[in-house]
This record gives sequence, structure tokens and C-alpha cells, in this order.
Amino acid sequence: MTVVVFGASGAVGGAVLAGLRERGVDVRATSRRPDALVVPPGVPVAAADLNDPRSLGAALSGAERVFLYADVDDPEAVALEVAASGVRHVVLLSSSSVTSPDASSDFNASRFLGVERAIRESGVDYTFVRPGGFASNAARWRWGIASDGAVAFPYPDAVQAPIHEADIADVAVAALTSDALIGGAPVLSGPARLSLREQVAVIGAEIGRDLVVVEQTEEEAAAMLSPHVPEPWVRQIIKDWREAVGAVPDISDEYTRITGRPARSFRTWVRDNVDLFR
Ligand SMILES: NC(=O)c1ccc[n+]([C@@H]2O[C@H](COP(=O)([O-])OP(=O)(O)OC[C@H]3O[C@@H](n4cnc5c(N)ncnc54)[C@H](OP(=O)(O)O)[C@@H]3O)[C@@H](O)[C@H]2O)c1
Repeated sequence: MTVVVFGASGAVGGAVLAGLRERGVDVRATSRRPDALVVPPGVPVAAADLNDPRSLGAALSGAERVFLYADVDDPEAVALEVAASGVRHVVLLSSSSVTSPDASSDFNASRFLGVERAIRESGVDYTFVRPGGFASNAARWRWGIASDGAVAFPYPDAVQAPIHEADIADVAVAALTSDALIGGAPVLSGPARLSLREQVAVIGAEIGRDLVVVEQTEEEAAAMLSPHVPEPWVRQIIKDWREAVGAVPDISDEYTRITGRPARSFRTWVRDNVDLFR
């Protein structure tokens, strides 16, 4: 059985590739820039761009399952190519945002809904892995931490349940190596609720520095994000923070149900990535 891994250079895709290899599964890694992709010796690499559906045929040829990112402009075209290739099971990195009541009118959630719908309607077996906010979003704070030991937010008391990308990958690997999760859409979260302020405190404790959380206005946050993040995402990030103040995000037990292990904590993510903040 060959499993094709899209996003093999990514945090989740890279961990999926490693997890499949640990289980002895034949893998094929894809990238839009295959020459720049670093994979273990012996792993075949194919060029593929999800936004150029004609590029997918060679990457998918002869494969049985595929791990797919949802960063797709034309979901129907991608789903058609996947179905035509003979792949029988797609594991999609989706998002828990699709479960919110206003998902269809939300910029971010509606993208994932569109990809899920296209895959469902293609007739190929699927598993939609639906994580909430990644712990790795905290990596964006490293410049402020490195320069002046400070991180600025408009809503530092926004509450999240950040998930370690290794947990997402573990669930994807479980889905890609059995039929047990076919038709499933596990919603995943980290094991605990933490405000942004508390996440900064965990990072501070791990690197042995007192970090400062600075409150800023939405306008100041937008000005800070805009040089690095496209406009719709600036609005999305600020909206998500605003709505997370006073929220009580669900803590999912799906990771433990599927893998038999406890979910990794935010502190574990910081320890695994501590060099980012030093
Ligand atoms: N951050 C969150 O809180 C959160 C929550 C829920 C869901 N998500 C979703 O999770 C994904 C990010 O996961 P990550 O952290 O593992 O990402 P990452 O480390 O930033 O890597 C992104 C990967 O996606 C691949 N990719 C991007 N566009 C592609 C395209 N057009 N065709 C083929 N491959 C493409 C890239 O591959 P190449 O550059 O090598 O081609 C890269 O390996 C996004 O889809 C995001 O919407 C994120």
C-alpha cells in the first residue's frame, strides 16, 4: 500500500510522513517545490500543487490513500482528480471551525466546509481530521519574545485549547493505516484550556524569562499583522481572538479514544520547540 503525503514539508504533514514510516508504510511525499523538500533517504518525492489539479495525476498514481491539506482554491477539481486516480481513502487536514453554527458564513470555516463537501461528493472514502487552534500558532510570538521579551494582543484573555501538531499527525496516521476511521470526522483539541496570557507564561517559565503581555487595540493588532498576513486573515485572527474572550472551548477526548494515549500539553509543545524562543 502506498500513501501519498501532501504537505510533507509542513508541521503536520512532516509528522504524518514520519509516523507512517515508523509503521513500515510505503510513502510518497509531495511538494510544490520538490527540489527543496528534505525527506529521509529512499522516500520518493513527487511535484504536486493542489492549486494546479493537472499536476496531481503523477503524484497520486497507483496510491491507495492520501493525506491532504485543505489549502485548495478549487476543491471540486481536486476531488475529481483524486477520485479518477483510483485512490480509495482521503484523510483531510480540516478544522474544528466547521462545527461552529456560523461556519458557512465564516471566511476560514467555509473554506474547509467546501473541501469536505467536494471530497464527500466525490464518492471516495474519507476521514476529516478536525483540529482546533494549533499550539504552533505561538511560534509567531518568537520575534517579540526574542527582541524585548514582550508579546502584544488585543485580547490576551482569549481562551483556547491549543493542540500539538504531533497529536493531529498521530490521528491522521491511525486513519491512514486502518479502515476504522473511514467516514469519521474526529474533532481534536489540546488537553487543557489556556488563555493567550497563560500560554505566554508557560513559554516564559520554560525559557526562564519573565515575559510581558502588552494589550493593544484591534487597530494596532491589524497594523502589526498586516505586513505579514493577507487582509482576510488579519480580520479572521482578530475575530477569533475577540470571540474567544470568556469562551469555554470544548476539550475533546478523541485523541485518547483513537490512540489510547493522553493528548500532549501546551507545555510539551513549548519544550519540543523551545529553541524557537531562545
Ligand atoms: N493553525 C491553526 O490553528 C489551524 C487550525 C486548524 C486547521 N489548520 C490548517 O492546518 C494547515 C497548516 O498545517 P501545518 O501547520 O502543518 O502547515 P505548515 O507547516 O505551514 O505547512 C504547510 C504545508 O502545506 C503545503 N501546501 C500549501 N499549499 C499547497 C498547495 N497549493 N499544494 C500542495 N501543498 C501545499 C506546503 O507544502 P510545499 O510548500 O512543500 O508545497 C507545506 O508542506 C492549514 O491548512 C490550516 O488551515 C490550522
